[in-house]
Amino acid sequence: MHSYSLIAPAKINLYLEIIGDRPDGYHELAMLLQSIGLTDRVDLRANGTDQIRVRCDDPEVPNDESNLAYKAAALMVGEFPESFNRYGGVDISIEKHIPMGAGLAGGSADAAAVLVGIDLLWNLGLTQSEIQDLAATIGSDIPFCVMGGTAIATRRGEFLAPLPSLDNLYVVLAKYRSIGVSTAWAYKTYRQQFHTAYAKDADDLTDRRQRVHSGPMVEAISKRNGKRIGELLHNDLEKVVLPAYPQVDSLKREMFQLDTLGVMMSGSGSTVFALVESKGQAEIIQQQLRHRIPDEDLGIWVAPLIANGIRLVHSADL
Ligand code: C5P
Repeated sequence: MHSYSLIAPAKINLYLEIIGDRPDGYHELAMLLQSIGLTDRVDLRANGTDQIRVRCDDPEVPNDESNLAYKAAALMVGEFPESFNRYGGVDISIEKHIPMGAGLAGGSADAAAVLVGIDLLWNLGLTQSEIQDLAATIGSDIPFCVMGGTAIATRRGEFLAPLPSLDNLYVVLAKYRSIGVSTAWAYKTYRQQFHTAYAKDADDLTDRRQRVHSGPMVEAISKRNGKRIGELLHNDLEKVVLPAYPQVDSLKREMFQLDTLGVMMSGSGSTVFALVESKGQAEIIQQQLRHRIPDEDLGIWVAPLIANGIRLVHSADL
């Protein structure tokens, strides 16, 4: 029997445009996603029972079926019943560093690690693309968390086109620990307010997707032009989240005063990130922000942009 330890990186949205409605109730998106070096650690081992057990060092993380990591394991049990009968249940232990309700895909990253880990634990030999297809059935962000790096994401966010890596830049992330935003609420509110601007038909949708593929942000990323990327950061969800969460709005304004390449909310928030050129600059911005907002509820992290998704760091025979 084996145990596996995996590193699960958070993501930020360099670009998030809501381009239309979908018949399944989700939204058609055009996004640019980026992995960052703020990571959870996920350990998996066979437990010799017929159960999935999830533990986390953060007591606020649920350890029942509502945890995406649990859902990922349950999905594998359903898909590969013979392997489950042969190898038995799994203990999943999560060391949490990625804040929750943050727009950083922390739960999705853990779920992605569970899918990759169970593939190893049960000797399934799945390809990355097969793992991503399974991932898409439990969450729109999870396929990207498996693959990582820099990518264009369309449809629900699960359809990915990789881009050259941007591992020369850093981010400073800031989040009020007590403020979490519900992703479902953010999209629902956006639909109520802005649905008249959605794509009118399939051709319009294709056009809007294409505009992102051939647009200035993808060009800036291809040229690794940090200054231009900073200018082009965009997130449609800011239009509904910032008015509803004045503290997040004023956090963004404070960060905007500092010497960065650009400032933007990630996903549905409540994290606001600043893009910067170096680790040294990131640490200066971190200190300046701490000085401007000396509130213990505000978490501030520094992380590099990274070129990988789920990474195996340790395996052992038990
Ligand atoms: O796919 P996931 O469970 O991460 O999505 C969380 C929520 O965000 C969904 O329930 C849905 O309300 C909203 N969403 C959406 N369109 C997407 C992705 C997410 O409306 N493309």
